[in-house]
Amino acid sequence: MKKGIFIDYSLFDELFAEICLTEKYQSLKNNIAHAGVTTYDHSVNVAKACYEYAISRGVKCDLRSLTRAAFLHDYYFYDWHKMPLFTFHGIKHAKTAARNATRDYNLTPKERRIIESHMYPLNLFHPPLSKEARILIKMDRKCTIGEMKSAKKKKKTV
Ligand SMILES: [Fe+2]
Ligand SMILES: [Fe+2]
Repeated sequence: MKKGIFIDYSLFDELFAEICLTEKYQSLKNNIAHAGVTTYDHSVNVAKACYEYAISRGVKCDLRSLTRAAFLHDYYFYDWHKMPLFTFHGIKHAKTAARNATRDYNLTPKERRIIESHMYPLNLFHPPLSKEARILIKMDRKCTIGEMKSAKKKKKTV
């Protein structure tokens, strides 16, 4: 994030309270996304990164939809590390998350498409069609790499 830029977190906090405090969302704390980071922590990190990216760079976009989609982009309820081989989690989970989130959070069609395309180009048939979708892809990757790096660092210092 660029330094010296004021970020008003009121919308972020409002959406966090609306989405993340439900029992179901809290259960994402039981699953590991990668490198020991829970799906809950990863999703909140990504949502915060998207929010800060859009504001700090002055991107004119639908901040509400971007943040909602980011909170819910990995809204699936299993630990893929415990799944049998060849379940194609990488390709399929974006659709699963979009379906679950539509059921539980009344997504708009735009929010649904943002979630469905977040693993592009793995899911080739769902390219990102909006600015918000492209920001989510970028921040999801950035956070994933950051989370994996800090896990490696922790391992080294132990
Ligand atoms: Fe994902
Ligand atoms: Fe993710």
